[in-house]
Amino acid sequence: MAPPISGNVVVRPALEQRLADENAKYGAQRPLSSARASRNSKGGFSSGVPMHWMRDWPQPFPMIIEAARGNRLRDIDGNEIVDFCLGDTGAMFGHAPAPVMQAMRRQETRGLTYMLPSDDAERVGELLQEHFGLPCWQMAVTASDANRFALRAARTATGRKRILVFDGCYHGTAEDTLVDLVDGKTVARRSLLGQVQDPSLTTVMIPFNDRAALIAELSKNDIACVIAEPVMTNCGMILPEEGFWEFLRAETRKVGTLLLLDETHTISTGPGGYGRAHGIEADLFVLGKPVAGGLPAAVWGMSQTVNDKLFAARPDSEHGHSGIGTTLAGNALQLACMRATLEELMTPENYARMLAGAEALETGIKALITEHTLPWHTARVGARLEIVFSPKPVTDAAGARAAADATLESFLHVALLNRGFLLTPFHNMMLVSPDTTEADIVAFLAAFGEVLNLLPLEAKR
Ligand SMILES: Cc1ncc(COP(=O)(O)O)c(C=O)c1O
Repeated sequence: MAPPISGNVVVRPALEQRLADENAKYGAQRPLSSARASRNSKGGFSSGVPMHWMRDWPQPFPMIIEAARGNRLRDIDGNEIVDFCLGDTGAMFGHAPAPVMQAMRRQETRGLTYMLPSDDAERVGELLQEHFGLPCWQMAVTASDANRFALRAARTATGRKRILVFDGCYHGTAEDTLVDLVDGKTVARRSLLGQVQDPSLTTVMIPFNDRAALIAELSKNDIACVIAEPVMTNCGMILPEEGFWEFLRAETRKVGTLLLLDETHTISTGPGGYGRAHGIEADLFVLGKPVAGGLPAAVWGMSQTVNDKLFAARPDSEHGHSGIGTTLAGNALQLACMRATLEELMTPENYARMLAGAEALETGIKALITEHTLPWHTARVGARLEIVFSPKPVTDAAGARAAADATLESFLHVALLNRGFLLTPFHNMMLVSPDTTEADIVAFLAAFGEVLNLLPLEAKR
């Protein structure tokens, strides 16, 4: 008697053919974007895109966006798309949200940037304190910069050079975090262009959830700070194991190592981020992307102790040359948009809608995964959801990499896009905004079911 069927596996050459079919359909739906892509194809690094990553999406060429509103995008070929990528979090509260657009219009008569505090500065400080708990705040233009500045603050406050990061992390282009873990050794990230200093000289990388590796590094008593996402979201989605954060916080405190929580993505949890919701007390905090509703802005917060140590460390001369801050950081337009976002978008009501939507999405996706007997699961942090190609949750980046499947990911991405739904590229990640409706979720699940029906599957015994 044949052994029982344990699940379905995707048959390879057939999957590649399905992907080629979907890529062809994508091209046929987009003659104008396609013509631009061919015209610009000899542009080398730039190739007609304002940012080189825009060519790395899974579809054959970038679609060019004409307009975006709420959770909808329209490309120049007139395709209407339900957006579950939302600018990879920058537009988490919807594209062109009304309170932020009003704030922008108000600045028409007030100016954009003065290199002096605007009237909104004090209120934004209060709002940040209310949302995230920390008392002292500074601004940046991007989360990458906020991380850079917060790391400088951590080193100044502790007088230590080394930092600790987790394998699979992404904290933007903050140079100190751009390392890889290869055979247990931290090395400079191999894909970096133009890197001179070797970040691995002062950064150590260990696997997430690895308590023994954490203790081994902390016990050297020379780590200024651990910088981490509370849930890793840039190498698939990796959740902390039960008790990991309590353990990390207790052990870092014992040896005087600070904790910098980068909540740029995990702000999907709720209005105070994952740390607030789960009682993780950070010494430093970073949030970028959606904090001003999509306008370039980021914030970094610190404890009173870190703030006081920074102040004490400033030399009497050359105050401005701290390596912290840029001319446009904290400009009046940013502050106005941040105030609108914190007061009117990052509200419990909006989060309740986003979380209910994400839950419905997860329930529907799980049911379809079960129906097709696929060895996959979903991971979720609030309004952010990931489809992971492994039967069980992954606990570290090695597990996440083993579960990754570039062809399958491209197929899902392009096939769903051809049916009017956009996922975040480089993952199977989705975000639910306050504008995402029940009807959008029902329509997505119908399309997802249709796409799964196209998968060439073979029963595995
Ligand atoms: C956790 C995290 N931190 C920081 C950043 C950097 O953000 P930005 O590219 O806006 O500087 C990213 C970008 O994806 C991120 O995922």
